[in-house]
Amino acid sequence: MNTGMNTIRAQTIHTDRLVLLPLLVEHAEEMAAALSDPVLHTFIGGAPADPQAMRARYERLVAGSPDATVSYWVIRLRDQACLTGTVQATITPRDNERIAEIAWVVGTSWQGRGIATEATRGLIAWLRQQPVRTVIAHIHPDHHASHAVATAAGLTPTSTRHDGEIRWHMTTTT
Ligand SMILES: CC(C)(COP(=O)(O)OP(=O)(O)OC[C@H]1O[C@@H](n2cnc3c(N)ncnc32)[C@H](O)[C@@H]1OP(=O)(O)O)[C@@H](O)C(=O)NCCC(=O)NCCS
Repeated sequence: MNTGMNTIRAQTIHTDRLVLLPLLVEHAEEMAAALSDPVLHTFIGGAPADPQAMRARYERLVAGSPDATVSYWVIRLRDQACLTGTVQATITPRDNERIAEIAWVVGTSWQGRGIATEATRGLIAWLRQQPVRTVIAHIHPDHHASHAVATAAGLTPTSTRHDGEIRWHMTTTT
């Protein structure tokens, strides 16, 4: 039954250097190029998608399912008008509140410029307005770049493990 708790729709999110755009099928080709490095899959599994497979994937994501709770954004670097990565949030009701599980990916050639950190902070600021009270992420224990992103965004590691990954957590107060 749809209680109204699941009906949050992704909106465009602006940060200093970035625009987070709700994912569209038209983004697939540029994203396939940006995310073509197999190294991106070291900790998250899977393999890069070629443009055709990415398009098919984005078509599925955009079509969603009636009770879909996952929202995806592409990360656009405004100055260079380039798509550099994605963020996602799975928002689900818990008791009378909402909890969001988030994840992030930035293409290899765009890494090390603070893009993941800035995008994740922007995403969390938007989630707080929905409002979402609890934000979690699952991160491989050896994935130092993602630890740094999560820490900079205000999450802290918990003792909970899930499929070999550590749960990170943040409770927002306002
Ligand atoms: C994790 C990831 C998103 C970081 O993207 P990014 O835009 O480079 O991140 P930032 O520039 O905001 O940097 C975050 C931290 O990672 C560090 N970092 C970035 N790239 C790195 C690299 N190749 N090697 C080591 N550290 C790196 C930065 O120094 C920074 O640490 P600091 O704040 O202590 O200086 C990116 O590496 C990635 O997409 N990896 C593959 C997908 C993945 O595993 N996603 C995470 C799922 S939880």
